[in-house]
Amino acid sequence: MHSPKPSIHDKNLFGHFVSVYASFSRSFALDALNILATKRSEIVLDPYFGAGTTLSAANELGMPSIGIELSPFSVALAKLRFTTAPQKKIFDGLLASRNPNPSLNAFSSETASLFNEPDLALISSLLPQEVVDPQTNWLRNIFSTTEPQLDDSTYVLLCAIIAANKSAKVTKGSNPVWIRKLLEGEPYSDTKLEILTKTIAEMLRSLNFRQDAPTPQVRLADARSMPIETDSIDIAIFSPPYLNRLDYFVSNYPANMLLCDLSGIDAETTRKELIGTTKIVGKDVSPYPIGDYCKSLLNEIWNHPSKASKSYYYWNYVDYIRSTYEVSAELRRVIKPTGRGAIVIQDSFYKELRVLTHQIVVESLLAQGFRCQIARRETVKGHMGRMSPKQSKYANDKTLFEYVVEFSYT
Ligand SMILES: C[S@@+](CC[C@H](N)C(=O)[O-])C[C@H]1O[C@@H](n2cnc3c(N)ncnc32)[C@H](O)[C@@H]1O
Repeated sequence: MHSPKPSIHDKNLFGHFVSVYASFSRSFALDALNILATKRSEIVLDPYFGAGTTLSAANELGMPSIGIELSPFSVALAKLRFTTAPQKKIFDGLLASRNPNPSLNAFSSETASLFNEPDLALISSLLPQEVVDPQTNWLRNIFSTTEPQLDDSTYVLLCAIIAANKSAKVTKGSNPVWIRKLLEGEPYSDTKLEILTKTIAEMLRSLNFRQDAPTPQVRLADARSMPIETDSIDIAIFSPPYLNRLDYFVSNYPANMLLCDLSGIDAETTRKELIGTTKIVGKDVSPYPIGDYCKSLLNEIWNHPSKASKSYYYWNYVDYIRSTYEVSAELRRVIKPTGRGAIVIQDSFYKELRVLTHQIVVESLLAQGFRCQIARRETVKGHMGRMSPKQSKYANDKTLFEYVVEFSYT
């Protein structure tokens, strides 16, 4: 089996346009499917598909697949990845022949403030008339159906939205997914959005989606309540979100804000629903059956002397553990009794405490009657789940492990 570590190629898949932390390599997804599949007709699920690595591997092997994501950005990108791209001439024609007097009313002031005027005008000019006046939740329909095929105009618009991540007036902060708006006078990429849109279309074309194989079905939904039939999935391959450091909404903030405005999705609600982001969560004290490791971890965090452990971080862990258990219950519902899967997950830190994230996942699967075994373990250096990447006060020894956990029914 290939290592789950993303290769340089995996990391550069979309150049600098897209921050999706592809937590495993394409060759790992291919290997895992080859090992776990008994027939090519088996149905593959990735409940957190991110950049779509699992879905793309399933498509390459001719297997049907379903992907669930809560980030509008990921869903838009996947719709583009798995739609037959318009021919270059048609694409360029649509990009050039747009509404000369677009209304800029389709976007909130927060979204508008992220872009320079010509870029916002370009995106607005690609919108169909009914979106601009009156506003509709037009993109919502695209997100809530598994139908992958986009019409050519929508294809061009979504490419422009993905590309807009790169021309937005934002900069990355010290945390890899924290961004801030540029201050007056700060330089930003002044590459025209039109050029960036063509570049993203070229990247998508080069991905070689197999049109003679089943098209991956993608849906904007929550992994805790998947719009998937009971007992319908043969194989699940995924990497769950990590706690603390990665906010998958903010990591593609400009595009996500445009997509939320066009679909009527509330950005703040989506951010709160994403598992693993540090956020103010309710202090949910209702009893929830959890395993021994989860109990002892919560205990350690509760008793940790650092500021805000009890008042804030403890509740984030409660929320994370509960969500992990809820997703495992959903997996139990949708996976056939003959089903099986593989999960890639790194451990992490809370301050100096090692958090055995893989053990949280394993306990949640065991609670649902799955059998689990660790199929692979490797060290990772630049690990994902660390509260503050620049801070070495708490965790000098940065070595952590990444696991591949295989699971199946007993
Ligand atoms: C570690 S990444 C998965 C990366 C993916 N394996 C790939 O190759 O790109 C975890 C993903 O989970 C998504 N996510 C977080 N909470 C979710 C939820 N409640 N339901 C569905 N997806 C969610 C995030 O948006 C993120 O893209």
